[in-house]
This record gives sequence, C-alpha cells and structure tokens, in this order.
Amino acid sequence: MDRKVTIVGAGFVGATAAQRIAEKQLADVVMLDILEGMAKGKALDMSESSPWVGFNTRISAGQDYALSADSDVVVITAGIARKPGMSREDLAATNIKIIKEIIQPIVKYSPQAILIIVTNPLDVTAYVAKQVSGWPRERVLGQSGALDSSRFRTFIAQELDVAPQDVQGLVMGGHSDVGMIPLASHTSVAGIPVSELLDRATIERLIERTKRGGTEIVQLLEKGSAYYAPSAAITAMVESILLDQKRIISSSVYLEGEYGLRDLYLDVPVKLGRRGLEEIIEIKLSTPEHEALQQAAGRIRQTLDKLQL
Ligand code: APR
Repeated sequence: MDRKVTIVGAGFVGATAAQRIAEKQLADVVMLDILEGMAKGKALDMSESSPWVGFNTRISAGQDYALSADSDVVVITAGIARKPGMSREDLAATNIKIIKEIIQPIVKYSPQAILIIVTNPLDVTAYVAKQVSGWPRERVLGQSGALDSSRFRTFIAQELDVAPQDVQGLVMGGHSDVGMIPLASHTSVAGIPVSELLDRATIERLIERTKRGGTEIVQLLEKGSAYYAPSAAITAMVESILLDQKRIISSSVYLEGEYGLRDLYLDVPVKLGRRGLEEIIEIKLSTPEHEALQQAAGRIRQTLDKLQL
C-alpha cells in the first residue's frame, strides 16, 4: 500500500482504530507504544485475522519512531484515560507531558504528515501539539466533534427508530460535559429538521445525554473510557483525508478569527481532504448558540492560561 498511518498509543482507542483502518484497507498501519510487546502482539494478532476478514494491509508495531517514517497521517492516542469520577481535565498534566515527548520524533520522521490528536483533554493537547510541532493549523487537528456528533446522531436514531446513517447532526464547542454544544438547529433526519420529528423536551434530553456521553461510558466500563465510537470517528477523519473525500466533519481546529475567536482549539464544522483542514465552515448561530460558543471558548482559554500554555 502506498499510504501509511501511524497510531501512537496502542491501547483501547489506538488499537481499535488500527483495526478499523486496516480492515477498510485505507493504509498500512504502524502502532507505536512504550509497551512494545503489547503493541507488537496486537499487530501480529490483527494481521492473523486478515485471511478471514479479507484485507491485505500491513500492520506493524514497536517503540522506535523510525518505523513511522513518512506517514501520511499520524494519530495520537497515547496517554492515560479517565476512570469513574475523573473529568477529562484531570488528565491534563500527565497527558501534556506525553504529547510533548511524542511530537518531536513525529516531526522528525514524518515532516509532511497530518496529525490527529485524540488524547484528552483534547482542547488542550491539540493546542500543545500545534505549539510543539510548529506546523500550520491545516495539519494539526483534534478528534472530538466527530465522536460527539456520532453520539448525538445515535441517540436521535434510537429515539426515532430510524437508520443512524440518515441522521445528520452537528456538535460544536469544547470536548467537555459543560463545553459541548449539540445543535438541534442543524440536525436533521434525511433532510427533515429534527424539530419536526421530536418535541422540545425530548431533544433537550438527548442533548444533555450527548454532553455526558463520554461520562456515561466511563461509569459503565468502570476501568477506562470509550473506544468503539472514538475509533470509528478517527477512521472517518483518516478516510476523508487519505481519500480526499472532502467530508464535512466537526473537528477541533485552531481558530484564527472564525466565530470571533482566536488562538485556541474548538470543535467547528470543517472540510477534511488531502491537505488536512481545507476549510472552516462558519454557520449562522442564534444568539444563545453564539453565547454558548463564546462561553465554551472562555473556559478553554482559562484552562490554557492556568496551564501557562
Ligand atoms: N508513548 C507511546 N505510548 C504511550 C506513552 C508514550 N509516551 N504513554 C502512554 N502510552 C500508551 C500506553 O502504554 C497505552 O497503551 O498509550 C496507551 C493508552 O491506551 P489506554 O490506556 O488503553 O487508553 P485509551 O482508552 O486508548 O485512551 C487513550 O484517548 O480518548 C482518549 O481520554 C482518552 O486520553 C485517552 C486516550
């Protein structure tokens, strides 16, 4: 295969993303992890599934960044995950340190890659990745809106008993229970505005469930956080980039004046193609939606200031 994706962190999210990318034959996959044997074992096990699943992408693993050389896309999922009672922000100190360590060798070995940061707290780690890499915003993206909108769409589909693929929904803002903004005004089912299908109270209930979607999974799993939906969201972003699909996917990107905001990462609808971030789409927001976005940005700014970033 002439396309290559490196995934740093072969844990639950990273390994499941590797599996999805390999099975879809999007690219050869390299998994890097400080737990070298674990990463190699998963890569080998995944490869041994190929005769039955029917894919011929190469999957390799290790801890030497030379393996990742000339990757088209690098996905970062390394770090610690939440346990019950923890917020994504509780992970900040540890995960920022890890991101800083990882970005340098990635820049050295894959200077032209597109980075997708997944490690939480996403709004902060993506910012650090951009700072340390020095890369333009087109090539440093964060995965969060793709996951949050997937949860919103799923809940609406379950409520209406319709195909999830037919539900289009947009979630903007920060990747936190308080900062997330699921937008009912920009959500539809096969083109039909959701407000024509569900009453206001039901929509509000689904919005609240979406905002706490990650926490709901953490509480159920007890020993870690979500990975099936996050890895599917990563795969959609990787696919749109590698195949130049130009899909519109809510992603965390560095704002430079869009929505009246700058110098921070926030989820907004963007076009993803071979150049990475190809366009930020500025939609018209109602006054309360606009205020919610400003508040979410204010909270992220406070966190960045507190961490002296
Ligand atoms: N370099 C490479 N890999 C590392 C490093 C490092 N410096 N530090 C930790 N790792 C690896 C761990 O060894 C582990 O295999 O990162 C992996 C993380 O995997 P899990 O603990 O299974 O966590 P996971 O559920 O995959 O979540 C990873 O994604 O969604 C976010 O909040 C989540 O920040 C968390 C991240």
